[in-house]
Amino acid sequence: MKYLVLVGACYLDTILTVPHFPSEDTKLRATSLTTRRGGNVPNTLEVLTQLAPSLQTHLITVLPSRSSPATTQILSSFSHSPPPDDPSPGTPHRIGTPNFSHCLYREAHTSPASSYIIRSSATGSRTIVNHNALEEMTTREFVHAADGILDGIEHKGDGVWWHFEGRIPETTLSCVRHVRRVAPASIVSVEVEKPLRDGLRELAAEADVVFYSRSWAESQGYANAEACLRGEAASSKASLLLCTWGSHGASAFSPSTNTCTTHAPSSDDIKVVDTIGAGDTFIAGMLYSLICHTPQAAKLRFAVELATAKVQREGFAGLS
Ligand code: FRU
Repeated sequence: MKYLVLVGACYLDTILTVPHFPSEDTKLRATSLTTRRGGNVPNTLEVLTQLAPSLQTHLITVLPSRSSPATTQILSSFSHSPPPDDPSPGTPHRIGTPNFSHCLYREAHTSPASSYIIRSSATGSRTIVNHNALEEMTTREFVHAADGILDGIEHKGDGVWWHFEGRIPETTLSCVRHVRRVAPASIVSVEVEKPLRDGLRELAAEADVVFYSRSWAESQGYANAEACLRGEAASSKASLLLCTWGSHGASAFSPSTNTCTTHAPSSDDIKVVDTIGAGDTFIAGMLYSLICHTPQAAKLRFAVELATAKVQREGFAGLS
């Protein structure tokens, strides 16, 4: 499989690092302020372009006007220069270029969806408040984009992997059904992350691979990743279910063999710098392992170790 289409929202993240999480109605001085492009699927894509430069990736996301500085900033955020500690700075870094030709532009807007993030140095937690004035992608827009991508693929037998952020569950479900209809050889993965959003279980039921977050699992009353995976497998036809659990790593459940595997980070000497997008990095590691056929036993370990490497650095550069 050479093609991967990622579908989900894009954000501009404003990150305030604070010594500790503030109490309500108090003042606190931040130790740093950073802005960078965010969003679950774009974060995953940024990591994947480093890991698998020859994979042909497409991003379907909603952006402000084509000519806005925000759109230029967002699209250019995927082309890295080598990380500062690259051992061979003279050699070009192997970075794949995603295809953005099926992004959706909201011409009346110049501002992107925005996240304001309080990152606590004391605990490593990240508290996110979002604002999004851009109209969400409709099924009709997705159908147009997906059909355009499929038309451009010469050897359709190679198959396409479609990864969806479980965002507006009804819309995402009709997008998944469209893919199943027009490209039955496709593989579909979905991310079930946001607690208290109806319809995510129905969406997960139709995917081949499902990624659950700890916050979603806890919102459903599960006390650990394995309980979530075994509980959710009953209502899903997925062949692989995964659940991340913060510093405890992640678990994978395979319904065909009824086996659950857990991998926790192998080092306990971890200096947490930036947990924003750790789950998105885990997904990149799993998608990479699944699409590029890493040996079965190594897949989960690779994704957990990749996410562990990510939390020890700022942003996503230099993860390959
Ligand atoms: C991290 C992240 C941020 C973004 C927010 C959107 O997983 O994707 O980059 O602002 O979550 O919910």
